[in-house]
Amino acid sequence: MKCPLCQAENADGARFCEECGARLAFVCPGCGQPVGAGKKFCWSCGAPLTAESVRLASPESYTPKHLAEKVRISKSALEGERKQVTVLFADLKSSMELLAERDPEEARQILDPVLTLMMDAVHRYEGTVNRVMGDGIMALFGAPLAHEDHAVRACYAALDMQAAVRRFADEVRRSHGIGMQIRVGLNSGEVVVRAIGSDLHMDYSAIGQTTHLAARMEQLASPGNTLLTGDTLRLAEGYVEVKPLGPVPVKGLEAPIEVYEMVGTGLLRSRLQAAATRGLTRLVGRDSELDLLRHALERAAAGRGQIVALVGEAGVGKSRLVWEVTHSRQVHGWLVLESGSVSYGKATPYLPVVNLLKAYFTIQDRDDHDEIREKVSRKLRTFDGALAATSTALLSLLDLPVEDPPWRSLDPPQRRQRTLDAVKRLLLRKSQAQPLLLVFEDLHWIDSETQALLDSLGESLPTARILLLVNHRPEYQHGWVSKTYYARLRLDPLPLERAEDLLQALIGDNPELQPLKQLLIQRTEGNPFFLEESVRTLVETRALVGERGAYRLAKALPSIQVPATVQALLAARIDRLSADEKRLLQSAAVIGKDVPFGLLKAIADGPEEVVRGRLSNLQAAEFLYEIRLPPDLEFTFTHALTHDVAYETLLQQQRLRRPRHPARLLHLHLRRRPRRRLVRSRARAVRRQPPDPPAGPVRGRGAASARRLKKAQLRRYGALVRQRRGGDR
Ligand SMILES: Nc1ncnc2c1ncn2[C@@H]1O[C@H](COP(=O)(O)OP(=O)(O)O)[C@@H](O)[C@H]1O
Ligand SMILES: [Mg+2]
Repeated sequence: MKCPLCQAENADGARFCEECGARLAFVCPGCGQPVGAGKKFCWSCGAPLTAESVRLASPESYTPKHLAEKVRISKSALEGERKQVTVLFADLKSSMELLAERDPEEARQILDPVLTLMMDAVHRYEGTVNRVMGDGIMALFGAPLAHEDHAVRACYAALDMQAAVRRFADEVRRSHGIGMQIRVGLNSGEVVVRAIGSDLHMDYSAIGQTTHLAARMEQLASPGNTLLTGDTLRLAEGYVEVKPLGPVPVKGLEAPIEVYEMVGTGLLRSRLQAAATRGLTRLVGRDSELDLLRHALERAAAGRGQIVALVGEAGVGKSRLVWEVTHSRQVHGWLVLESGSVSYGKATPYLPVVNLLKAYFTIQDRDDHDEIREKVSRKLRTFDGALAATSTALLSLLDLPVEDPPWRSLDPPQRRQRTLDAVKRLLLRKSQAQPLLLVFEDLHWIDSETQALLDSLGESLPTARILLLVNHRPEYQHGWVSKTYYARLRLDPLPLERAEDLLQALIGDNPELQPLKQLLIQRTEGNPFFLEESVRTLVETRALVGERGAYRLAKALPSIQVPATVQALLAARIDRLSADEKRLLQSAAVIGKDVPFGLLKAIADGPEEVVRGRLSNLQAAEFLYEIRLPPDLEFTFTHALTHDVAYETLLQQQRLRRPRHPARLLHLHLRRRPRRRLVRSRARAVRRQPPDPPAGPVRGRGAASARRLKKAQLRRYGALVRQRRGGDR
């Protein structure tokens, strides 16, 4: 019997792993003997194993349909991939002692709901429960489907499950007279998804200590507590509040590791807020964008409402521009209300609207129902009764029980309409007293109810003193385009000089840093978030030493790893592609950062038109850009980091051994042509090109950068051929 955690082989029938101590089997609640998955009775004591225990034994039966569907659709593209994940272990401490004296039926009545509560919390944040182990579960966030915020999701799931079990435990204490608490452990790292069974069971192997450490965290946690490692904390910094417990020795590891106890949710709700607490880098560039925003504020203040959307890829600086506006002198005298969608919030209708209302009514998480009621009615009274009728809808949106019989008799569509009207009236009415800056961030994750509110509000804007400032990634579309009071502001990555300014602010101007700066800009193509995170990783790995803004190199030009935060973000984007597009992107990644179409066509699945179709989708989604027109059609990855992430998801062996695998075919392709001639012919092709960039270079790349790309490409070809030559000997 293989341990699900450390993969060690154990004797059949073993209940615990001899290597890592993990519980190995689904156990009978009556006698604690391991029982077969899906069996109806315990073979040892004859206790009935209820339908619930049968259900808990198969991922197919407990994974919510929409998640199961996502995994099924991309199953083949997910198998054999490396994934960055956060692993969660949760168990009911000493459940056996707790339940030993009980009748098995009664024991199950206590145990099963706890398992269900744990799983619900995992599913709420789109994690996958990979194993149910009698009195506990193991779940993964970020595999099989990548999530850019896997650690935050896992932390929130842990907090939710602790809270849910605490509530349930209160009931059990009253009804059965026993107390119970769960322990949770979290760690982040890499796993390899080996296979996904037809019942959705996922076989995976941990890389290094990923799962082992999560299990250790759980075992070290005292009942009722959640422990996490520094690796998880780093990815969820600011989103959760923790108490450091200091270094703790862990079996199998040379040095002790830092362990943290989760205290609660943090004050922060966005990545930029987390960056702001560390100290924001001086703003570089963006003058014209800020000008446009200033004008929009002026027009809105004068009673001509505006919608401005800041559009750009993740990390390009959308939230930062919003921050600059909300912290500018120009909004003195304005009421600023900020909200945003979250990646796991699509299933929660109105979440951003609720947060907006909470901000307006200054409602805190710890406020009880009476306090909330009081705060809402106090504010509504300031409108001289004009908004009295909205009170019920607003309270109900804030999740308060309402006793209003007419409201309760409404059917759901009517309630929805009243809710939309209430919020809209409140905002419009408020804007008569004071100009209103409404910020909705990250619309690409918006739920349909919030969208409906924004659409409806949008209709009334032209005569209101409201600036609706939104931001989103390019993949999101909305229907405002035709409105005269709508402006879309596309944010591109920082141009070369501004990226240099940013690096100057981040690491300083020691001349020895120049080559590193060039490398960083080349790898990130001027994305400020990628730049900041790459620098942070260099500092954490002690490749850069000294003070912020005045670093020195600790070693000659360090290689630049993909920061874990950036990795998670890009991997999640790649996983949202269709399976075919994703495979094509991975094939392209095996070729290199620059991808000649001729080569890609030779190694991709499917006829040329199909490949072209997929390529144009990858271009539309801004994974690849065209850098040369036919006949030498060639693409390049948006930035080297996207290339690296697409490449790294593939396993070494997969890169080389798959029968139609790109690397293999590339190798054959190179062998078909004498190598020297290949390099020469590419050199000639490059020389033949006029010095100007190919017609219609995408996104205004300059001639210099086009030439740089060609040079880089040539170097890579040379390296590839040299490498092959070495390998052939
Ligand atoms: N023009 C800029 N000057 C300095 N720092 C910037 C600039 N634009 C973005 N940043 C920094 O880059 C990081 C990512 O920006 P953010 O606004 O969060 O990106 P987005 O919202 O587009 O994902 C933040 O830490 C932000 O302060
Ligand atoms: Mg943002």
